[in-house]
Amino acid sequence: RMPGLDECFNLLDFESVAKRVMKGQAWAYYSSAADDEITMRENRNAFQKIWFRPRVLVDVGTIDTSTTMLGSKVSIPFYVTATALGKLGHPEGEVLLTKGAKRHNVVQMIPTLASCSFDEIMDAAEGDQVQWLQLYVNKDREITRKIVQHAEKRGCKGLFITVDAPQLGRREKDMRSKFSDVGSNVQNKGGDNVDRSQGAARAISSFIDPSLSWKDIPWFLSITKMPIILKGVQRVEDVLRAIDVGVHGVVLSNHGGRQLDTARSGIEVLAEVMPVLRAQGLDKAIEIYIDGGVRRATDIIKALCLGATGVGIGRPFLYAMSAYGLAGVDRAMQLLKDEMEMNMRLIGAARVEDLQPSMVDARGLISH
Ligand code: FNR
Repeated sequence: RMPGLDECFNLLDFESVAKRVMKGQAWAYYSSAADDEITMRENRNAFQKIWFRPRVLVDVGTIDTSTTMLGSKVSIPFYVTATALGKLGHPEGEVLLTKGAKRHNVVQMIPTLASCSFDEIMDAAEGDQVQWLQLYVNKDREITRKIVQHAEKRGCKGLFITVDAPQLGRREKDMRSKFSDVGSNVQNKGGDNVDRSQGAARAISSFIDPSLSWKDIPWFLSITKMPIILKGVQRVEDVLRAIDVGVHGVVLSNHGGRQLDTARSGIEVLAEVMPVLRAQGLDKAIEIYIDGGVRRATDIIKALCLGATGVGIGRPFLYAMSAYGLAGVDRAMQLLKDEMEMNMRLIGAARVEDLQPSMVDARGLISH
């Protein structure tokens, strides 16, 4: 018997249901990570090395979880991060995530490799719903320029350039379940030229330019007014360089453990980055986001205490969508919102700005 939606009490529950009900190939693509999947497991473990230091006797009668990300007001500091091939999990694909995000005033990051076309996803948005674009940079820069400028014209509010994937990681679970056809609507429509023997991910990523470098970033800044954020930064040296080159933000991320195995978790890197930025007076110079393994509002709160502006969440929404469609996405977001309100109250923070480094004990992290 498939558990009812009302039997899902947290984001991890959607994963166990999805594992049971999804087609093997789709489950393999969503759930897999690189090599021994050590980094993917560490993404969860790292949050468990941080403990709270709650404040008591603070007026927490009214909790406000809203905040601002890249200039947009949002209801809660998490966003739906970019995950390719939404139609593997549900016939409607990414537009279901758009609709769920709308209901909750949450930002959606649209993947370059979405199953739905970019315009379909933009069209599914309503009113002033905030969307960002995740960009894989094409070897043919004219294609990339068109994608970026079209996104800006359609009203995208941020450009997230993925910098941790000059080559797609080796996800063996995915490779074992051979890629057949998922009706993807990807920019490089490789026809029959794509090599499908390496799993879904590699089959669709052959257009990505491995020669992309810091030298290219000024060009991106020159072709768009959207804020530019580098997604997949993993060390403080590169955050400083990002500030230097003039981008607006970074996502400390290891791509959900799908790229370089035994890379550190985003929260771990955050603990390395923020003290250095604060010491140099640069902590307001750039917005810092993290993703990877965020499953509980306590994870979000820990990231915010350590200095993140917001966090991205990937797989849980894919699992919720695959198992229960829009209702699943809706419930997953509501559960997180409820957890957020409760845990902010318990930690003694009525507003997002009240979340401070002193409210966590992060000595368990290596970078502390
Ligand atoms: C991803 N991710 C990703 N990132 C990106 O920049 N472009 C992409 O096309 C994809 N595709 C993708 C597919 C799937 C199935 C997953 C699970 C992930 C990485 C994603 O944006 C994010 O970094 C991680 O998913 C965050 O980790 P969690 O929340 O899934 O643990």
